[in-house]
Amino acid sequence: MPTLAQQVARRRTFAIISHPDAGKTTLTEKLLYFSGTIQAAGTVKGKKGGKFATSDWMDIEKQRGISVASSVMQFDYRDHVVNLLDTPGHQDFSEDTYRVLTAVDSALMVIDAAKGVEEQTIKLLNVCRLRNTPIVTFMNKYDREVRDSLELLDEVESVLQIRCAPVTWPIGMGKTFRGVYHILKDEVIIFTPGQGPLDEVEIIQGLDNPRLDELFPLEIENTRMEMELVRGASHPFVLDEFLEGTLTPVFFGSAINNFGVREILNALVDWAPPPGARDATARSVDPTEEKFSAFVFKIQANMDPKHRDRIAFLRVCSGEFSRGMKFKHLRLGRDIAANSVVTFMAQGREQVEEAYAGDIIGLPNHGNIQIGDSFSEGEALSFTGIPYFAPELFRTVRIKNPLKLKQLQKGLQQLGEEGAVQVFKPLNGSDLILGAVGVLQFEVVASRLLNEYGVEAIFESTSIYTARWVSCENTRKLTDFENSLGNNLARDAADSLAYLATSRVNLSLTQERWPDIVFHATREHA
Ligand code: G4P
Repeated sequence: MPTLAQQVARRRTFAIISHPDAGKTTLTEKLLYFSGTIQAAGTVKGKKGGKFATSDWMDIEKQRGISVASSVMQFDYRDHVVNLLDTPGHQDFSEDTYRVLTAVDSALMVIDAAKGVEEQTIKLLNVCRLRNTPIVTFMNKYDREVRDSLELLDEVESVLQIRCAPVTWPIGMGKTFRGVYHILKDEVIIFTPGQGPLDEVEIIQGLDNPRLDELFPLEIENTRMEMELVRGASHPFVLDEFLEGTLTPVFFGSAINNFGVREILNALVDWAPPPGARDATARSVDPTEEKFSAFVFKIQANMDPKHRDRIAFLRVCSGEFSRGMKFKHLRLGRDIAANSVVTFMAQGREQVEEAYAGDIIGLPNHGNIQIGDSFSEGEALSFTGIPYFAPELFRTVRIKNPLKLKQLQKGLQQLGEEGAVQVFKPLNGSDLILGAVGVLQFEVVASRLLNEYGVEAIFESTSIYTARWVSCENTRKLTDFENSLGNNLARDAADSLAYLATSRVNLSLTQERWPDIVFHATREHA
């Protein structure tokens, strides 16, 4: 039996960050395929936020009507246990998408090489930066006409402010995509579309190998010239800089053709960090500590009115979780018997009975768990670094039936505490304001208000552009600020003061005018 330290050392927990359509779903499927978890690509159906055809989750889903299937995928690769956490995009984009990134130890950034760095990637990478999360980069779709590779690296460096260390380099693109040159190994991996994990890969040693001139006379000359430039213009791979989050190893390939997938898996296993120590209010918690601890980074509520339960996603931070064990819900000071805990396996093998640091477990509950809650075997450990993010979308909320005001307030209070949406109460005025980072959050709130609290709410757009939580060491100055700008200020569910800006310009002018006030784009849990 592996020791606790060995269990921790062989775990890798990561998420894929990308803009919609860059190939996240395709690559996820290929990662599972190359790890031997699924037998053929195509098992993961439903292109957008796909679901697994066969898995342990299906029963849970049927029972609970909660789509947890694609939220967490655990699989084995080269004697490592890999946890891949989904970051919902498209219409499912929500604050949870950001918060998932607080629960991973590394991230895989997928870029559509025809398009370059896109908006959602920028946002997600900024969240990774809060914790200096190491990033592996995959430039996808080289089977198509894509942009100049050096230009792409340049864009990543300037827009995302992270140094690039190409590990492979593409030879040609589109119809003349021939493969990649592995810079560290000095070998050329020949592109054969659709090869599976067991197929033999053709490898040619050395970029100067005359065999390459025979095979691809045109492309290889160009690659040799490019490599001269690459060596001058980019950075060598340095593991420590990757682990600090300041340098990203870059791989090139074509997910749909299975090309480059193995290199990505190997990079994650060889270079990405195992679970590390996590900060809690009292002290830092080491993953190899004997006692179990965990925190909640996401809550998935049931949209089916017949099932009011929800699943809290816990990231294990230390110790060993075993089915049936008891642990303490620290905020409520209450024991929880973990009998019905859900673990996430991408293969159809028997249920896992234990989990270690880096693993994710799902805890069904009826609303007594909130984002940011911590669990331990008794010690008062409140994990930090699971923030709320400044909303980017706002709605005022009214009700059709004024007699339901109490229910509305209660519902929004609870949904706000749970992290489904952010609720702001203006200092002046009575309309509550809801803030979210994805429109889906408003839909979820509307449906839950109706189903769980019997309130029909009407949401209306507002002129608010963004929110910033404010603080100031000098209480007199803060009071001045409150008195002067009361019309733009509100308190959230945790009673924290926030400035609601009407535009980017409005925000920066206010910041200039009030230099003693600190404006925060994230807020830690209370
Ligand atoms: P997402 O999860 O990031 O949104 O992306 P997804 O994997 O769904 O991929 C988006 C589109 O890009 C899909 O095409 C997919 O087939 C395609 N794609 C992914 N990887 C590659 C690649 O390496 N090369 C090329 N040429 N295309 C790739 P679609 O037309 O939107 O869907 P479909 O009809 O192919 O399923």
